[in-house]
Amino acid sequence: MLLLYKEKKRNLMAHLPNVELSNETWNETKAGIVAVGVFQDKSFTPMAGHINDAADGLFSKAIEMGDLKGKEGESKLFYVDGKRVQLLGLGKKEEFDQETIRMVAGHVSRSAIKKKIDNVAIECLSSEDDMCQALAEGLVLGSYQFLDYKTKEKNIFELRSATVLGCEKEAVTKGAMIGNAVCYARDLGNHPGNVATPSKLAASAKEIADEGGMDLTVFEREEFTEMGMGGLAGVAQGTDEPPKFIILEYMKGGDEKPKVLVGKGLTFDSGGISIKGANKMDEMKFDMCGSALVLGVFKALALLQPELNVVGIIPSTENLNGAKAYKPGDILKAYNGKTIEVLNTDAEGRVILADGLSYASKHYDPEYILDFATLTGAVLVALGHIATGVMGTDKNLMNKIMEASGSTGEKVWEFPLWPEFCKQVQSEIADVKNTGAPMQAGSIAGGAFLKEFVNEDIPWVHFDIAGTAWGAKPSSLNPKGSATGWGVRLVLDMMDAS
Ligand code: BES
Ligand code: MG
Ligand code: ZN
Repeated sequence: MLLLYKEKKRNLMAHLPNVELSNETWNETKAGIVAVGVFQDKSFTPMAGHINDAADGLFSKAIEMGDLKGKEGESKLFYVDGKRVQLLGLGKKEEFDQETIRMVAGHVSRSAIKKKIDNVAIECLSSEDDMCQALAEGLVLGSYQFLDYKTKEKNIFELRSATVLGCEKEAVTKGAMIGNAVCYARDLGNHPGNVATPSKLAASAKEIADEGGMDLTVFEREEFTEMGMGGLAGVAQGTDEPPKFIILEYMKGGDEKPKVLVGKGLTFDSGGISIKGANKMDEMKFDMCGSALVLGVFKALALLQPELNVVGIIPSTENLNGAKAYKPGDILKAYNGKTIEVLNTDAEGRVILADGLSYASKHYDPEYILDFATLTGAVLVALGHIATGVMGTDKNLMNKIMEASGSTGEKVWEFPLWPEFCKQVQSEIADVKNTGAPMQAGSIAGGAFLKEFVNEDIPWVHFDIAGTAWGAKPSSLNPKGSATGWGVRLVLDMMDAS
């Protein structure tokens, strides 16, 4: 593993580090391909119009012959004056939004990699800031590959540079930074459990803190056990891999209340004594994607330096089956003093988050708390890989999330936290139990449990990202089998950091 790390330092980018701006025309640029667009009403973007004129109506002919209709997702390659030109379908003009431009730009990067072109240029397809930002996000996200463990040169081809032609907007730089932050979260998610350990998460937090001028605190096993974090301590009993309780503080917003983000950092979930089946157990390396989301957001804060107060809290451990592992029937005491009856050691995410949420409630006076966790298989049954299940205690906060979701294209769907569900996690012999009613509303039971560890007067929303953090259909923005970095953009958008 050490060797692989050294090799990685070699020169892997694995995604675009930035997006360049240029005022060159299509025939001046040295890029290997120039991408321009056509709408479904057959109207060309300005640069596409110029190329069409210069090439005797080449595009118009292709459209007349029915080879291209301008539909979203279409892409056709032409050769004009010895240059490769990619004509992209942009769909209906009135529906041309951030999500479309992001996808289209993602396609430019991804198709270039497929064709082994390492340097692309794309026309600035809009004059609006939000759209230019989304275009840059798309270029970076589409360029993403996870190559750290590929040792043969022939399996490695990377996109080296992307340029937006005819654009001077800062929004492009911002979009590129946000894209990089999402890729940062993806990388953490994609590393295997033997590399992305709690120590590795703490080291990443350190790297981000140094880069962005933040404070970092890491509590070790003895410390957080002594402090009364019986949930994290209990789950961590089954592993020798050192667990961590990680706190990042980015305080550049004066005296405003901090926004607190809590992420599940379960670096491998075997289920513990209530062990999982072997089928797809490897995917449980992704069980730290909540923490990767939080670190991705902090990576963006480091790059963007907005005037905000944000705290990130990551309880992190493996859930394994060592001789000292916690057992069904055990009772643990969380940081807020509540007792938890463990009926299933595989419902461990909520148990470690109990300490994270209690800590957030006690030590900060948060504007709101958001938590992110690959918490339940049940959310996959309800919403597939399409949307994240959200539930919480505050209408305004939920509305904010819905609005951000609309502009970033990351879908969320609300589940109700009705009193009937909250009753289902009450225990006979302790304060709460870590499972709800058998085979019923499993994702809501997770949320109902977590609610017990958030102070009632703090607005809070729980995001169950078990369906969206990985496993989505491969797209121009996300390669097959990869962590998605879901939610980084949504959170930045709702905090007005982006
Ligand atoms: N990490 C899993 C949730 C999960 C399962 C995510 C499958 C993605 C795919 C979590 O720790 C878990 O095991 N949850 C249990 C809870 C149950 C025992 C109440 C589950 O969903 O089966
Ligand atoms: Mg589990
Ligand atoms: Zn888990």
